[in-house]
Amino acid sequence: MQVIASAPAKAILFGEHAVVYGKPAIAMALNKRAYVKVWENVENKIHVIIPGLDIKGYIDFKNGEIISDSPKKGILKYILTSIKKVHDGSGLNVCVNFDIPIGGGLGSSAAITVATIAAVSKYNRKDLSKVEIAKYAHEVELEVQKSASPLDTTVSTYGGLIYLEKGAQEIIQLEIDYDIPVVIGYTDTRGDTGKLIVDVRKKKDKYPGVIDPIFDTIEKITEEAREAILGNDKKKIMELMNINHGLLDALGVNTKELSDMVYTARNAGTCGSKITGAGGGGSIIAYCPDGIEEIISALKDIENVLKADVSKDGVKISVLRG
Ligand code: MEV
Repeated sequence: MQVIASAPAKAILFGEHAVVYGKPAIAMALNKRAYVKVWENVENKIHVIIPGLDIKGYIDFKNGEIISDSPKKGILKYILTSIKKVHDGSGLNVCVNFDIPIGGGLGSSAAITVATIAAVSKYNRKDLSKVEIAKYAHEVELEVQKSASPLDTTVSTYGGLIYLEKGAQEIIQLEIDYDIPVVIGYTDTRGDTGKLIVDVRKKKDKYPGVIDPIFDTIEKITEEAREAILGNDKKKIMELMNINHGLLDALGVNTKELSDMVYTARNAGTCGSKITGAGGGGSIIAYCPDGIEEIISALKDIENVLKADVSKDGVKISVLRG
């Protein structure tokens, strides 16, 4: 049997970091995806190839060892932990492709995790519901990263524009009938999500009286933004993104490169722009309802650029050979 599953990357519009402390957040699935193909390995090994990162490796299922000499093999941990959730250990070939930057704050690890769980479970003739896929995928992120909100894995599983309620109690799809044209700018250096979360936590522990109100304000921004999005109030969405960016800077997850991109986008045209994801390297998002091309060309002069829109499609599975 040969199965392929894919899942979208995501961009957080509002509420990153605060969401780790149970605050609400809004994120969109991007029309950029990770693809995971699985088929039988006759040597009874679990063999993983990621051509785009030049990664080839074996996974020792029993003792959890990853055998690969690639310097970028960190992503294999997500793949191994995902396979363990839904596979018995028999031989498997896994090939991962993507049209998203890896480790750039766009939920690439969540997209690969969701697609791996979906492909391997289908390969094993198990039809998991989206609720189950999202649950396993969040468990994988927690095991690998130690700390993670369910936001990335939820958006990758369900697609669309998602409001994750306070305390992650409920996932609400924000139904809109207009596009959300965005530009993502991303650096070559990657932020380490786990470390950034720890750094923010240390700051919160040291200055609770200062940092807690920042999270409370981010919560208010996210709630206002939800209304603005539902009412298609573009100006308000942009203003709230800019305020959210200032607070992410205050939390210490900004860098000079991210800051340069945020202001380059704002100076090039009408947009709201902010860090998206964990920060510390990684990506910015600029929401540009008008004049997107000027902003793309200004950002291209300084960093890597991706034009994207919201994708309604979450995880997708197809059997290539039965
Ligand atoms: C990472 O994409 C977003 C963070 O809020 C972490 C998380 O939600 O798990 C920084």
